[in-house]
Amino acid sequence: MPKHDDPIIYFNGRYVPVSEAKVSILTHALHYGTGVFEGIRGYAAKEHNDLFLFRPDDHYHRWKQNCSLLRMGLTQTPAELTAITLELIRRNEFDSDIYVRPLCYKSSPRIGVHADDQFAIAIIALPFGVYLESSEGVHAGVVSWRRVEDNAIPARGKICGAYVNSVLASDDARRAGFDEAVFLNEAGHVVEGSSSNIFIVRNHKLLTPPPSDNILEGITRETVMELARNELGLTVEERSIDRSELYIADEAFFTGTAVEVAPIVKVDFHVLGDGHVGEISRSLRRLFYQVARGDMPRYYHWLTSSAQPVGVRK
Ligand SMILES: Cc1ncc(COP(=O)(O)O)c(C=O)c1O
Repeated sequence: MPKHDDPIIYFNGRYVPVSEAKVSILTHALHYGTGVFEGIRGYAAKEHNDLFLFRPDDHYHRWKQNCSLLRMGLTQTPAELTAITLELIRRNEFDSDIYVRPLCYKSSPRIGVHADDQFAIAIIALPFGVYLESSEGVHAGVVSWRRVEDNAIPARGKICGAYVNSVLASDDARRAGFDEAVFLNEAGHVVEGSSSNIFIVRNHKLLTPPPSDNILEGITRETVMELARNELGLTVEERSIDRSELYIADEAFFTGTAVEVAPIVKVDFHVLGDGHVGEISRSLRRLFYQVARGDMPRYYHWLTSSAQPVGVRK
């Protein structure tokens, strides 16, 4: 079996092949969605002969906070969780881009929604490429499903059960011929994609919905805001965005660990700008990749070296 068909994962405190990581059919999280997950990318940087984890400390910090929403008190520090992830890279000898999926879940094998304190964690790392092809820009569609409200299931929590909301939106959008969904919240404001944050550009200003509009507080979102301010000198404003503003935006793009920076060129029946990837979206995407692959020393603090050799590009 090729080694990455059965990667080594971290499960119940041990490093085991994924084929041996089994849970009971009665697992609480499987029935009630009581888990919290994360998504972290690792970038193979050929020029540096290294595989960098992108902002693992911030992702693990967020994971611990979100786990506490379900009263799952992770004892490991972000540094310890990063060390486990680096060990996975080493054991699997990854030599290309990866995606890391930490999962913490209510593990009691029993019927009944009342939660108890039994939980388990797994950290899975897999080779991973492009999630949403966006080099020519994507066609997004506003879906009729609304984003979950904070007082129902907190969108900021990356709670497994809340992702049924995303699955419904993504499925509708794709069946209707769109590349990705755009969610509105119950107030009718544009909030995010099915697994990404959203930005629009109007008159050279970057606008993105605030956390209080029921978004996930994305780490890529924060990264892009910092790059826009520092590198492009743009004004970035967090405020509610109307659907009609999205339709008349000069540019728009999604951000997220999976989608990275994905320019949007059309929303429903409205072409944005001249219908091609906009200048600001293009610049931010380029900057993001430069940072993630270790080509901008002033942002090295966002990268954690795995010292895993990936080969030097000829
Ligand atoms: C619903 C949703 N919004 C936004 C994001 C982007 O967050 P991040 O940039 O931290 O990956 C994600 C993440 O993966 C997500 O699931």
